[in-house]
Amino acid sequence: MMARKNFVNIEWLKNLAEETKHIKQRSYDLLQVQPDSQVLDVGCGPAVDTIPLSGYIGDKGRIVGVDYDPVMVEAADQELAKTKISKRVQHIQGNVFALPFQDGEFDRVHLERFFQVFPKDSADQIFAELNRVLKKNGRIVIVDMDMATLSVNFGDNEFERKLINYFGLKMRPNGYAGRQLIEILRNNDYKEVSVELMPHSFGNLTRKYFMNWIITGALDSKFVTQNQADNWKHELDSRVKEGTFLAYITNVLVTGLKP
Ligand SMILES: C[S@@+](CC[C@H](N)C(=O)[O-])C[C@H]1O[C@@H](n2cnc3c(N)ncnc32)[C@H](O)[C@@H]1O
Repeated sequence: MMARKNFVNIEWLKNLAEETKHIKQRSYDLLQVQPDSQVLDVGCGPAVDTIPLSGYIGDKGRIVGVDYDPVMVEAADQELAKTKISKRVQHIQGNVFALPFQDGEFDRVHLERFFQVFPKDSADQIFAELNRVLKKNGRIVIVDMDMATLSVNFGDNEFERKLINYFGLKMRPNGYAGRQLIEILRNNDYKEVSVELMPHSFGNLTRKYFMNWIITGALDSKFVTQNQADNWKHELDSRVKEGTFLAYITNVLVTGLKP
């Protein structure tokens, strides 16, 4: 399966990372990176995790971010160049279905909001590669959203539920990835599997982009009318001004050890 090039907006990823720092921080704690750890971040985006993860390694450690999109890899390198990090951090263009790494090259693997960009039935193929590059007893941490838990305070509840349902089911390849993560690890016989839930409340950095994305996609595919789309935007803008805007989602964090 091929990923789409330039599919994900770089600024959106950076803003979301900033607003979900608490969730990312928890994922690093769960990863238990040691000074000599060899860490792989799959679907690294613009270095939103590789740079913070570099703080955990010493001279013998290594952080590698892999992303299919060459534009994303370039953005990741540009972010790295802005820092004074001299530790071993690399960004490599590569496909999760044929990772450019040796068997057992890593003892930590991190993936955030990755499984939501693939249909559910790709998980086995993805895990065949993750299992190949992760050492025995290596630790994996996966973070993803469950779009079924996305909730937006909107006057017409019935419209909001239908729209969010449409977004999770039809606009994302796998909007419900978060709730499936534990099943994916169990299916791959991972040990010491644990799960944690963390909410994210959409704030100044993310709400406009995300709320517009939902309604614009629904309008483009004619699921909603222009009038309904205008009402959505108008009401949410008014709520922001009045201080009554609230939208949130649950992120699922799973951890396990490779058998
Ligand atoms: C939703 S973004 C998440 C980025 C980052 N992990 C974060 O937390 O912001 C998914 C990323 O996966 C990358 N991607 C998509 N298909 C891929 C593939 N087949 N192999 C590797 N990376 C891929 C995309 O280019 C994008 O950067």
